[in-house]
Amino acid sequence: MLSPAGDGDPRRCHIAAMIDHPTRDAGFGVYVHWPFCASKCPYCDFNSHVRHSPVDQERFLTAFRREIARTAERIPGRTVTSIFFGGGTPSLMKPGTVGGILDAIAGAWAVDPGAEVTLEANPTSVETGRFRGYREAGVNRVSLGVQALNDADLRRLGRMHSVDEALSAVRIAASIFERSSFDLIYARPDQTPEAWGIELERAIAIAADHLSLYQLTIEPGTFFERLHGAGRLTVPDDDAARILYDLTQEICEARGIPAYEISNHARPGAESRHNLVYWRYGEYAGIGPGAHGRLVTGNARVATATEKHPETWLEQVEREGHGIVEEEILTATAEGDEFLLMGLRLKEGIDPRRFKTFTGRTINERRARILEEEGLITRQADRRLSVTRKGFPVLNSVIAELAA
Ligand SMILES: C[S@@+](CC[C@H](N)C(=O)[O-])C[C@H]1O[C@@H](n2cnc3c(N)ncnc32)[C@H](O)[C@@H]1O
Ligand code: SF4
Repeated sequence: MLSPAGDGDPRRCHIAAMIDHPTRDAGFGVYVHWPFCASKCPYCDFNSHVRHSPVDQERFLTAFRREIARTAERIPGRTVTSIFFGGGTPSLMKPGTVGGILDAIAGAWAVDPGAEVTLEANPTSVETGRFRGYREAGVNRVSLGVQALNDADLRRLGRMHSVDEALSAVRIAASIFERSSFDLIYARPDQTPEAWGIELERAIAIAADHLSLYQLTIEPGTFFERLHGAGRLTVPDDDAARILYDLTQEICEARGIPAYEISNHARPGAESRHNLVYWRYGEYAGIGPGAHGRLVTGNARVATATEKHPETWLEQVEREGHGIVEEEILTATAEGDEFLLMGLRLKEGIDPRRFKTFTGRTINERRARILEEEGLITRQADRRLSVTRKGFPVLNSVIAELAA
């Protein structure tokens, strides 16, 4: 669906005057989605599919190349500041497939010499064996899905690796890549603050300089949702989850790896540059099945989404040169909402002056003052507005108040 900015859109009066869209200032990232996994984890609702016969990686690579070239025709002349292979399980890709995609990106746009190139990897020994090949292909950062540091919970989460394999993957990643990170899921069934505290301390001791710490969410359509609905899976309630969240912040701050985003922790300077492009409301291309993009064409910011089903995406790209099934020019109101939704996840918060350049309006001062009095947001000397530690657990309602 293509819908131009509507009448009454306050941005209209700025359009003639603007040389380019203001979201071009926060970097340009390329997201590449690999939609296959060796098995489906019971909590996961990402666009990931299990295939019982080998995936034709050459055919997919050709389609990725075509979609990249088509995207570059629409938004030429960019300099890529980051590339992210997400999934699914990108560590099921052959290094040659990853290298072919990186070559196609470099053929389509200039790539900043310092560009961050991340690949999400599962820590089984088979996948760890491909790390050197990924490095040679141009990947310089991996993000490992460790999820838990005890074998019983790894089994409950349906993971195919053991703690020993995860530890070994973390070590090997650190020896091969310039930068690395790993993910843990907490607020797991029956997890006590004591057990999580010990596990998190151990994680920090082996981590490089970045950790993603996600609270387990029960997602619609997953096996965990069915178990939960049938009363066979109990997860911590809001109060218990809040205790675990506070403990996470305390331990990470004390160990010098504080949150820079609601679930992401880094030592200063080690933040994920690709994810910062999203959260700072930059421009990014979404390549591959089920990928989302935000492209700046002329003065408009366009939201794109590709076909989710891998083989249907493949056939569409082979037919039409792209896999896009949804496309919408964002109105000023939608841009303002997205900007708040993304930017307020960051500890650095947002610059209200930037909000004004997208929307032509200011943030509702009365609501902001009430939130500030409640201790949910704070305003810094440079006028940036950010969510406090007290505000993060109720982030969605804070955003809804400010966006209203
Ligand atoms: C889509 S996965 C891709 C990474 C890789 N396939 C893996 O599983 O390690 C990205 C991350 O999302 C997190 N995740 C996925 N589903 C989740 C859920 N229901 N609750 C909390 N975290 C979740 C996991 O930590 C996972 O590492
Ligand atoms: S969590 Fe990762 S490995 Fe598990 S199904 Fe989701 S994408 Fe695949």
